[in-house]
This record gives sequence, structure tokens and C-alpha cells, in this order.
Amino acid sequence: MTTAQEPSQGSSEASHRAVPHMSTDEFRRRGKEMVDWIADYIDRLNGPGTERPPVMAQVEPGQVYRSLPVHPPSEGEPWEAIAADIDRLVMPGVTHWQSPGFFGYFPANTCFPALLGDMLSSGLGVQGFLWHTCPSLTEVEMRVTDWLAQLIGLPASFTIEGSDKRGGGVIQSTASDAALVAMLAARERAPSIGAPTPTTGGPRLIAYTSTQAHSSIVKAAMISGVGRDNVRLIDTDEDLAMDASQLARQVRADRDAGHVPFFVSSTVGTTSTGAIDPVRTIGELTQREGMWHHIDAAYAGSALVCEEFRWMVDGWELADTFNFNPHKWMMTNFDCSVLWTRDRESITGALSITPEYLRNRASDEGLVIDYRDWQAPLGRRFRALKLWFVIRHYGADGLKAFIREHVRLAALFAELVGDDHRFELVGKRELGLVCFRLRDGSDEETKALMQRCNDTGRILLTHTVVPVGPAREERFVIRVSIGSTYVTEQAVRDAWDVISGTV
Ligand SMILES: Cc1ncc(COP(=O)(O)O)c(C=O)c1O
Repeated sequence: MTTAQEPSQGSSEASHRAVPHMSTDEFRRRGKEMVDWIADYIDRLNGPGTERPPVMAQVEPGQVYRSLPVHPPSEGEPWEAIAADIDRLVMPGVTHWQSPGFFGYFPANTCFPALLGDMLSSGLGVQGFLWHTCPSLTEVEMRVTDWLAQLIGLPASFTIEGSDKRGGGVIQSTASDAALVAMLAARERAPSIGAPTPTTGGPRLIAYTSTQAHSSIVKAAMISGVGRDNVRLIDTDEDLAMDASQLARQVRADRDAGHVPFFVSSTVGTTSTGAIDPVRTIGELTQREGMWHHIDAAYAGSALVCEEFRWMVDGWELADTFNFNPHKWMMTNFDCSVLWTRDRESITGALSITPEYLRNRASDEGLVIDYRDWQAPLGRRFRALKLWFVIRHYGADGLKAFIREHVRLAALFAELVGDDHRFELVGKRELGLVCFRLRDGSDEETKALMQRCNDTGRILLTHTVVPVGPAREERFVIRVSIGSTYVTEQAVRDAWDVISGTV
């Protein structure tokens, strides 16, 4: 290893010296400083309220951009100058997703073992598009996705080692990528419809999901060429879960019109309110109709480590693909979204293409999994490391305790809201997401309340718009999503104090 520079001898040596690499000694020092900085940051987020930065970044649009130099440096800068700019230029524009006062969107939580896994992945700097390019990357991922399947009770047919060895898991970047991959595989498997353009007036491939599904499903249709107009958004019941009888009716109507229903995405834990679609009924329909069933459990999937929540996925053995994001609620920092299939060949059949420069003996002989054939991009990082570290550090018991505590806190928060006559709970809470609005207030008033709460800097809340009550009128609703790694009962009670004291 190079720690000190020798005097140069020849010209190539001189040009080598001109490249100002950081020495391993300095990296050791700066790396430790960076770890200290991160640990101090997390300590500060969890310290006394007065020391905590406002949860939401307090900058105007363009402020960070304008604060950065217009031109890059021509000469390298000392590390001290670079590091100083983290606090000076970057931190003012950082929203603190890991703050215990962060209740927005869904969590994107992290933990130290996961950070160490990501650090190791970057340090190794390997690529795993082929087994051949880094066998450990592929095989740790195979084993860890099998482990995760066991932890959430996923049927063995979805695993690498499942009874017929046809299934398996893969780490995608996001649930959006997973949905796209599933739709591409489904399109490949669907009966041919000739030239599938939405403008020909001929038969079309039709995909289905609910009005409450994440927009990534429609986006997958846009990207895959299925077309956004060929996605049917099926209405929901009073709990905002997909109405399976409407789905069946729509599929029948599309068949009668000469179209080809080919794909259903059901959601376990919708983005707006955490609603749970009827997975078994949808699975039975898709099997009867020869359609692909993808289950998007991006958020709620983490809760399946606890046996008491597995009713949500009753019937998932009938699905073709299942996906959830450990990067949401399982402390495995972004990005880490696991997609399982019962039929890996349907995915590789849709995505595999082999130019000469990627050929190698192990692949040619069909001895290995090449994960490039399970995803849209070619390159892939060693993301399994962070998931492996998380699972080993916490164990099944630790992960269960983590989820159960958040669900307990959400139940407590829902009780506080429900006991206050000024508020009305919306949707059916199952996990860590609580939705509510002002009972007698207008949408504008609920929105203004959320804004005032966020302006305190003590908490961050986000919103949605969903049909509410028997009239199913679209109303503005505040979402409180409890799932940050360091959230405590005190933090939840503080959030309630802010909200109830701000009305
Ligand atoms: C149900 C659901 N599906 C998909 C997504 C998209 O997630 P990603 O950012 O991993 O694409 C989300 C994001 O919140 C979600 O809630």
C-alpha cells in the first residue's frame, strides 16, 4: 500500500506523482473523522430538543445551488476545506429523515450496521452484473434474499433453494424498478397481440391496479410501452382496498372488448393510508385468467417479520412476484428493494441480452445466476452486504421488536387523535401509519394546520387526498408515519403536543 511518495525517477513516475491520491494513512484518519461526524449527527438528532435542528430544511429554492462555487477547482483542495463545507454548505439544505421528529412519507430508515455494509460495498468497489465479476456479491445476495424470505414467511417457491429451484430473490434499487421488471416479465409471458400500440384500435394489453396504488405502477406501464392509457385504476372499498369484484368485472369487460388483460398489481400497505388489497381473491382471479399477479408491499412488507401481520398476505403463494423495501422500514439504508419471483426464467426471458464482451464460462454453462438479467441496468453494487449485516445484527427477534414497537406507538398516537373530538381518523390503521383530518374543518384548514406544525421545526408531517366517509368525497388528510429508527414514545407524544396545541 502506498502511504508515502517516493521521489520520481522517470516521466511515467512523474505523471503518477501528479495524481494527488489520498494516502491510505490519511484515509484512515479522515474516515474515522467521518464516522465520528455521522455518530455526532445521530446523537444530535436524538439529543435534547433544543439542540435538534429543525426537521425540515430551512432553505429557499436555489439557495444551496447558489452557495456553491460556479466553477470546479483546477487544483485539488485540502480535505479540511472540503469537510468544512459539509456543515457550511450542505447541512443547511438537509431535511433530517433520521430525526425522531420525522413522520413524513414513509420512513427511509437506516442503522449503523447497514451504514457499515454500504461503506464496505463502496470500499470493495466491485461490480456484480455477472456472477463471474464478483461471485460473492451474487451468492451473498442469493443467500440473504432466501434468509429474508424465511424471515417474512414467504413461501419457499419464491426462494433460490425452493423446492423446484425455479424462484429466487434479487435486490433492486427501488419498488418502482421492481414493478417495472415484473411488468416486463408479464408482458413477455402474455399472449402475443401483434403490434401492441394503443393507437391501432386493435387488441391491447391491459394492466390493473387500484386507484390507491402507488404511481410507480402507471409509470411502469409508461416506461414498458404498455402505455398509461392501458392501466385500469380499479375503485376501492370503504377501507380504500381494491374492490376485487370491480376488478373481475373490468377484466371481463376488457376481454369482451377483445383486449388482453395481462397484469394486476395489488398493494399491501398503500401509500396514502396503508390499505391492504385482498391478495387471495386477486390471486385466484389472476390464476383463472392467466394474468400476472405482482404484490407491491414496499412499505408494509417489513412488518411481515411479525407473524401477527401475515394475514395481510394471505394468498401470496398464488402471486408471480412479491416486492418490499427493506430501505423503508427495515433500517437498511436506501437503496434496497427486494423482488422475489416464483419463475426466474420469466424475468430473465424478458431482460437477458448477451453481447460477446459479457460472455464467460460459468454463464455459458448455465452454472450461475447473473443478476444483470434480473434488472434493467447492467451494473450493480454489493447491496446484500448491508442487508446481511442488518439481519445478523438484529436477528429475527430484534427486527420483530423494532416493528412491534412502532406499531404500538402508532396505536397510541391513533388513540390520542381518536380521543380528541376536533379530529377524525381516516382509513383503517394496521401498521405505523395514522391518517386524520380536522373533523369540522375545511381541507384548507387541515392543510394550514399541517403547515403550522411543520413550521415549528419540531416535526415533519406530509399529506394525501383520499375519499372519505360514505359520500367518498376527496379530502385533504394528514399522514403521521411512525417508523424512524430512533423514534420513541416521547417523540410521538411530543408530536401530538405540537399538533393538538397548534389547532
Ligand atoms: C406502496 C408503494 N409502492 C411503491 C413505492 C415506491 O417506492 P420506491 O421509491 O422504492 O420506488 C412507494 C413509495 O412510498 C409505496 O408506498
